[in-house]
Amino acid sequence: MNREQISRIAHADHPIKSPLDDASVRRLLERGLPRGDERVLDLGCGSGEWLLRALAARPHLHAEGVDVSADALDQAQLAARHRGVEDRLVLHHQKAEEFTSSQPFDVVLSFGATHAFGGLLPTLAAAREHLAPGGRVMIGEGFWDRTPSQQAVEMLGDLTDLATTVDRVVADGWVPVAGHISTRRELDDYEWACWGSLAAWAVEHPGDRDSAQALETATLRRAEWLRVYRDTWGFVSLILHRTPDLG
Ligand SMILES: C[S@@+](CC[C@H](N)C(=O)[O-])C[C@H]1O[C@@H](n2cnc3c(N)ncnc32)[C@H](O)[C@@H]1O
Repeated sequence: MNREQISRIAHADHPIKSPLDDASVRRLLERGLPRGDERVLDLGCGSGEWLLRALAARPHLHAEGVDVSADALDQAQLAARHRGVEDRLVLHHQKAEEFTSSQPFDVVLSFGATHAFGGLLPTLAAAREHLAPGGRVMIGEGFWDRTPSQQAVEMLGDLTDLATTVDRVVADGWVPVAGHISTRRELDDYEWACWGSLAAWAVEHPGDRDSAQALETATLRRAEWLRVYRDTWGFVSLILHRTPDLG
């Protein structure tokens, strides 16, 4: 069983691959896409769930998604067909950091994919290149809610605390106009959804040649969450405008 198959099963009950519940995703999309006719780009779109939800609720929206996972993009394409939005969605199978477009976007989204660019600020720098004047960025990133162990840093990267994370964004030339800090419940629900789904799949497919690996992975990842980062890792979503020149 490869990484993509594991991810597909783990996210079956939580297609947004970030610790946000449906109400939070809806609220962020409402704040980020107030007109409903925006051109939206998702860098690291995975199976496209953010774009699919945005498109389904806004018949005049157009969206493009970029991801390196062919499997995730196939899922996105299939789901777009099922939801009747495929004529307004373009998917690009390539590295997000190498994506170029001749037309700018009103909104650039990137959730849980800042590692692709080497961190939060390089992701914002990439988003800026794609943004139309007056456009918005919607970004989701981890932060340290408490001092992490060395093991947690090695696993999740060199993050900062929430206030410092927002300060860095502001110092980089952005104004946060809305945001959401994932609740304990959203964080826990996400992890249970992932590792519970994988364990359930293993239990429900005892004769499958991949079931032992699925259960072992679910057990390991659940233990890493509970022992290494549950008490220290948080997740913040921000809607950002470029800092205006107010004279
Ligand atoms: C945690 S998932 C988030 C998916 C989606 N944004 C969401 O919130 O549902 C991270 C995604 O980043 C993608 N990714 C990783 N490196 C990438 C790169 N260099 N370029 C584009 N996508 C990348 C992965 O394939 C994966 O789909």
